[in-house]
Amino acid sequence: MDKRANHDTYRLLDAGAEAKLEEVGGLRLVRPCPQAVWPRALPAKDWDAADAVYHRSETGGGQWEYRRQPPAEWTASLGGHSWQLKATGFGHLGLFPEQLTQWRWLETAVRALPAGARTLNLFAYTGGSTLAMARGGAEVTHVDAARGVVSWARDNAKLQGLEGAPVHWVIEDVMKFCHRELRRGRHYHGLVLDPPSFGRGPTGELWKLESDLSDLLGVCRDLLEPAGPAFVLLSAHSPGFSPLVLENALAAVPGAAGARLASGEMTVPMAATGRSLPSGCFARWCRGLTVDSGG
Ligand SMILES: C[S@@+](CC[C@H](N)C(=O)[O-])C[C@H]1O[C@@H](n2cnc3c(N)ncnc32)[C@H](O)[C@@H]1O
Repeated sequence: MDKRANHDTYRLLDAGAEAKLEEVGGLRLVRPCPQAVWPRALPAKDWDAADAVYHRSETGGGQWEYRRQPPAEWTASLGGHSWQLKATGFGHLGLFPEQLTQWRWLETAVRALPAGARTLNLFAYTGGSTLAMARGGAEVTHVDAARGVVSWARDNAKLQGLEGAPVHWVIEDVMKFCHRELRRGRHYHGLVLDPPSFGRGPTGELWKLESDLSDLLGVCRDLLEPAGPAFVLLSAHSPGFSPLVLENALAAVPGAAGARLASGEMTVPMAATGRSLPSGCFARWCRGLTVDSGG
């Protein structure tokens, strides 16, 4: 294959035999992909020519094997925007291409909200949803436990020309932050949650998806503007968290007249076959918005 094609763009080239082959900012990477339980479409020579391979260890961690080091300033373009990349020790790059459809939906949903709308992004990671909502014109509060990850999201904001956008960058435990906002009587027009299976707040607060999601959504219900246009987007990459599981969880957000629910799988197109790689699920709840609630 032509190495120069789409040099700076993210592309999923192929997936199969429990791995995926991606082209990210000019580098070819192989990463584990347990859901790819089908044969690879591209020949072995394409896979073998990868610049770096992430090997997962039996004990849960993993490591990169480099055949070519990523450049110091490594970026890729996805959805027409630039993203800072890092080959992290746990195999992430800081870029979740399966969220692209959600980011587009968020930008459109925010544009349909009243001017000056406030939105909240919980477990906000490297800022994809935050920046989509900022682009749509919202005042966004971005909450994540990890200082380094919030600084990475701010780098993405700069790369995308959004350093001046009204984003509040908050390093805090999600549950603590939400309870404090409730006590302050704050309300938001839009909420985005992308919770991990397991996580820790900055001072060790434990987050467990199965046991804590329901409580968090209960608090979120009270943080939503009580009337008028509003939305909630929930996504997860955890086994068992199917579209219907997420939709049922979101149904606990009060269904005022006109509220609509939609859910589906998040996917990434595989260039070699034109088929889609499933990569997590989402559910969306919206009220009084003219935006399509479907996937
Ligand atoms: C975006 S989520 C995970 C994305 C994806 N759903 C997955 O499961 O791989 C991960 C983010 O949540 C943050 N996080 C985890 N526990 C947290 C907590 N208790 N409060 C705030 N942020 C937390 C982490 O710092 C990380 O940036």
